[in-house]
Amino acid sequence: MSKIEQTLSIIKPDAVERNLVQEIKNFLEKNNLIIKESKKIHITKDEASEFYKVHQSKSFFNDLCSYLSSGPIVVMILEGENAIFSYRKLMGATNPKEAENNTIRKLYGISIDKNSVHGSDSKDNAKKEINFFFKS
Ligand code: CDP
Ligand code: MG
Repeated sequence: MSKIEQTLSIIKPDAVERNLVQEIKNFLEKNNLIIKESKKIHITKDEASEFYKVHQSKSFFNDLCSYLSSGPIVVMILEGENAIFSYRKLMGATNPKEAENNTIRKLYGISIDKNSVHGSDSKDNAKKEINFFFKS
């Protein structure tokens, strides 16, 4: 059964800085995801903390929020069949060292913190995260 979903993708500062935006977008489109919306923004640390608040008790939270607000990012709404899961698969494991071949994090990730991309992990979070960046 066809299940067209939307999910939120972020190209993180390390990838924007290395001019990988177009390459990552091409990779997504080649893998059947449609980029419905895309904008380049630079968020504050407070906004990053709000976005990542599920991780607020984690040891890496402060560094994570500093990092996401350290430079421009590209936020996108992706659409496609099973988009949430299929994009998570295309991203690869959180730690690029553990990511499967031909995934974004394997191809471009530098380290567990500079892992080039974010993707929503569930239908509920996809909805929340899309609303966070693209309020209508
Ligand atoms: O991004 P993903 O959903 O794969 O991982 P997460 O567990 O939701 O963690 C969010 C982000 O925190 C990751 O993408 C990493 O950039 C960062 N992180 C980190 O810096 N150190 C860790 N030990 C775990 C995650
Ligand atoms: Mg996550």
